[in-house]
Amino acid sequence: MPQSVKAIRIHEQGSPSVMKLENVELDAPKPGQVRVRHETIGVNFIDTYHRSGLYKIPVPSGIGMEAAGVVDAIGEGVAGFKPGDRVGYCSGPIGAYAQAHTVSAAQLMKLPDGVSSEDAAALMLKGLTVQYLFRSTYRLKAGETILFHAAAGGVGLIACQWAKHLGVTMIGTVGSDDKADLALGNGCTHVINYHKEDVVARVKEITGGKGVPVVYDGVGKDTFTISLDCLSPRGLLASFGNSSGSVTGVDLGILAAKGSLYVTRPTLFHYIATREELDAASGELFDLVARGIVKADIRQRFALADAVKAHEALASRNTVGATVLIP
Ligand SMILES: NC(=O)c1ccc[n+]([C@@H]2O[C@H](COP(=O)([O-])OP(=O)(O)OC[C@H]3O[C@@H](n4cnc5c(N)ncnc54)[C@H](OP(=O)(O)O)[C@@H]3O)[C@@H](O)[C@H]2O)c1
Repeated sequence: MPQSVKAIRIHEQGSPSVMKLENVELDAPKPGQVRVRHETIGVNFIDTYHRSGLYKIPVPSGIGMEAAGVVDAIGEGVAGFKPGDRVGYCSGPIGAYAQAHTVSAAQLMKLPDGVSSEDAAALMLKGLTVQYLFRSTYRLKAGETILFHAAAGGVGLIACQWAKHLGVTMIGTVGSDDKADLALGNGCTHVINYHKEDVVARVKEITGGKGVPVVYDGVGKDTFTISLDCLSPRGLLASFGNSSGSVTGVDLGILAAKGSLYVTRPTLFHYIATREELDAASGELFDLVARGIVKADIRQRFALADAVKAHEALASRNTVGATVLIP
């Protein structure tokens, strides 16, 4: 049956104020689709790129990639999910900032007992990002030292906990002393407040001049050169985000000059594209959550109607940990 829900919509890309709360009619799920009634919605930096136009999307459009809740209705041919199941998703389709949303069953995850909707909305997109960065993009081994930017952010705090679990020495950059304390409290080994200290010099000092084999950089434009300068020869820069803007116009010769370096620009959606990949990655994440090794840390909660405030908060650089919307 069709359903009327409240949803955030944009009719043009731009500042946070382009997001408006509207009534939307959801059709009954088509074959292979599942309608999810949301209990908690995850807020991620990628939502701000969809809203601002950094990533071009057709408008009018919804916003949001991630939510957790309960299966409300299923389309023909859906196996493995039934109304009432507790589920979550984090790979769209865009439109999660809503009371309910219809997604492909292929992207849906069942939430294990003990993982609440709030936990899931805080952990799926961000935790699966850390999973692929640490386990696939560059498979970390105990004893290695890494550099991770924005260590007190949503992805960053999960990275701190996961790195500690793997026996990895994590050097995290942060923009304030409060964020430094938070990252250390979550398992980061060394923190660098980049307002006070030179990141490259500190990384060289900590690593005895060698640099690190891998840098995980979600900040992008402002940190690109710094990240390359922190790598040891033949090291890898995993440039996985653009919170300060996109990295563009790179002369590849810089990679030779700075030590035959590698750069990848990965995105989660290519690492959980198949049911097998999604099950394996989410299984690993939820196992760490069940064992208390990775914990959700929601520091900002907003009502769905206040999505504008959530985006302003994320852009202000004052948020730590995860941000969610309550529908
Ligand atoms: N490729 C992927 O698969 C993937 C998946 C998930 C997330 N991401 C990326 O990972 C990054 C982190 O995502 P998140 O949702 O967890 O965000 P977040 O880290 O909670 O927030 C972004 C942080 O980036 C830092 N930052 C530096 N320059 C900034 C600027 N000019 N404007 C805003 N923030 C700035 C700030 O921390 P400090 O104050 O400590 O500098 C800020 O708190 C984002 O770039 C996101 O796009 C990528």
